[in-house]
Amino acid sequence: MNTDRTLRTFTDFFRERGHRLITGSTLLPPPSDPVLFTTSGMHPLTPYLLGRPHPQGRRLVNVQRCLRTTDLDEIGDSTHLTVFEMLGSWSLGDYGHSQSLRWGYELLRDGFGIPRGRMHATVFGGDDQVGPDTESLCTWRELGLPVELTREENWWDNGPVGPCGPDSEIFVWTGDSGTPPQGSPTTDPRWVEVWNHVLMRYHRHEDGSLEPLDRPSIDTGMGLERLVTVLQDRTSVYETDLFEPWTRLLPPLWDLDEPSMRLVCDHLRSSIVVLGDGVRPSNTGRGYVLRRLARRLLTTLWRDDPSRTLSDLPVELVEHTLDHFRQTGGSGPVREVLLDEERRFSTLLERGRRVLSRPEFQGPLSQEDYAYLHDTHGLPRDLVAGLLGP
Ligand code: ALA
Repeated sequence: MNTDRTLRTFTDFFRERGHRLITGSTLLPPPSDPVLFTTSGMHPLTPYLLGRPHPQGRRLVNVQRCLRTTDLDEIGDSTHLTVFEMLGSWSLGDYGHSQSLRWGYELLRDGFGIPRGRMHATVFGGDDQVGPDTESLCTWRELGLPVELTREENWWDNGPVGPCGPDSEIFVWTGDSGTPPQGSPTTDPRWVEVWNHVLMRYHRHEDGSLEPLDRPSIDTGMGLERLVTVLQDRTSVYETDLFEPWTRLLPPLWDLDEPSMRLVCDHLRSSIVVLGDGVRPSNTGRGYVLRRLARRLLTTLWRDDPSRTLSDLPVELVEHTLDHFRQTGGSGPVREVLLDEERRFSTLLERGRRVLSRPEFQGPLSQEDYAYLHDTHGLPRDLVAGLLGP
């Protein structure tokens, strides 16, 4: 099943069950939100999960692009991407957790064709503040799925304050189809988490206390790229149709090892999406995240061949990414900014090398040296550290 059909199957399933498809999927949260980028499907819905009526009703479905920089060091493995899309469904004080889990199971089995024998659930087992989630436990037992109880892994929040609650996750067995599933999600990594169903039952306040919400809601989220990897029976997201143009066009252009190629693909794709949402590189806030992505990918690209350049980046990749994320600004401005950023970074590196070759910088650098290099020559600490090597 290709990505487009996966998307349609998900949204159609929930629309047939009375959910309205909501739009507004930009990476940029509203100006009142202190967070730089949208990090999950529920993020833009926070006020509604806390009780405000949503103009489109109590059953919603959405495809939300998200950016997570907390996973930056994991980029290059087979599942983590900086920008990803989350398939989400919500019951804002409408149906309960059990119904959500039943629909989740039905869609995975009948809509996506995952056999029951390859699914495993996890459920919140309780902690010193909140009791175990017995409703979910009973639901999974009725449906005949194996269940594992955990604590931290089955509690969801989007930050230290705000809506939160116990969740139940559905895992799919990705081991060899010839061998029966083994172990459980916490003991065998071949169980891959695909869908999280959260019962938003509390509002956590600054002092850490949990206030029960008058009207609990359901928030579910399933990472599209990970689902597609499982459905297409691939071991890495880079082998799915989502990355087909990347894996076709980049290797003949740049001869990189696999982890470097993955990082370059991921960061380029993320930079394009962030640019497509109107962010421009800068030294603060969102622009700084974009700048870091661009510099990390350029550092990787130039590591064993400094003549590589983003001028060679095929326009098809920019267009493919903007199309997929339904961004309409055109590839021209995106390429221009990327090339400008490449020029700036290259100039900065040259200056850094020149300055650091001076005799006074040959030994270990002091805090004052770093401050001087930053304040007088515009050389950030991480760039200096990179130039000095391990
Ligand atoms: N908000 C939940 C998550 O992102 C569904 O996992």
